[in-house]
Amino acid sequence: MTSVAVFSLAGAPGVTTLAMALATAWPMAEPVCVVEADLSGGDIAAWWRLPVWPGLVDLAAASRSGQDQEDGAVGTHTQVLPGGLRVCVAPSTADRTAGAVDLLAHNPKALTAASGTTVVDLGRVAPHSAAAGLLESCDNAVLVTTGDIAQLKRVKDSAAGLFVSSPRVGLVVVGGRGSTREISAAVGMPVWGHIPTDPKAAAFLAGQAEAVRVDRRPLIKAARDLARALLRHEEPSAGVQAALVAETP
Ligand SMILES: Nc1ncnc2c1ncn2[C@@H]1O[C@H](COP(=O)(O)OP(=O)(O)O)[C@@H](O)[C@H]1O
Ligand SMILES: [Mg+2]
Repeated sequence: MTSVAVFSLAGAPGVTTLAMALATAWPMAEPVCVVEADLSGGDIAAWWRLPVWPGLVDLAAASRSGQDQEDGAVGTHTQVLPGGLRVCVAPSTADRTAGAVDLLAHNPKALTAASGTTVVDLGRVAPHSAAAGLLESCDNAVLVTTGDIAQLKRVKDSAAGLFVSSPRVGLVVVGGRGSTREISAAVGMPVWGHIPTDPKAAAFLAGQAEAVRVDRRPLIKAARDLARALLRHEEPSAGVQAALVAETP
């Protein structure tokens, strides 16, 4: 019953791709699903040529009525991808998705599966938005950024305001260079990982290409390391962020 939010502050650094990679690489036998709750609209249904039902809109409607909240609602509103991953997809447009995200922000318990892990793709999160409300309700949150200086400055300047009451938040840097320790020190938050540029794995996760031995792809390996780190620190504690900074090379 763990939820992991994946989000960005600007641009398209690869939030949906990382959410899919994390769920694909999740190391436990327990069920895992991806919930697409990006205010600007979803991509997964188009990527995988799925209908948008069952999906986020139904999940949100059920959350309003309080229906199946006791046993975790997500499971009944998911579809299964060819590889076995469960996804709760959003409509492609902002207008149809925003209402659903807003409803869920008021009933965030619906996001949690009865057992296992929910990876929530929040897309780009602005302060005080419905997505920011959902972010606060998740157990862990992974902020995805590219490593360029403007994006890192944005992370640094936003960190204090955005994360006042939010869950454990760590940064993941897609592509780029720079040591984990240097970036941590520069932005003032822990860096939980680097995600390599891996077009083959990204295309596979988007349903656009077959991939041989996908579990050996750099992107999937990095996602597995990140999942393990999240699981190791499942119980949030005051010292966790500092410990995570300290333990990274
Ligand atoms: N680690 C990566 N390596 C290579 N390509 C990537 C990676 N992450 C994302 N991409 C590609 O970048 C584009 C945007 O990714 P996406 O996950 O949709 O971003 P976001 O959800 O932040 O908008 C997609 O074409 C995706 O395949
Ligand atoms: Mg996305």
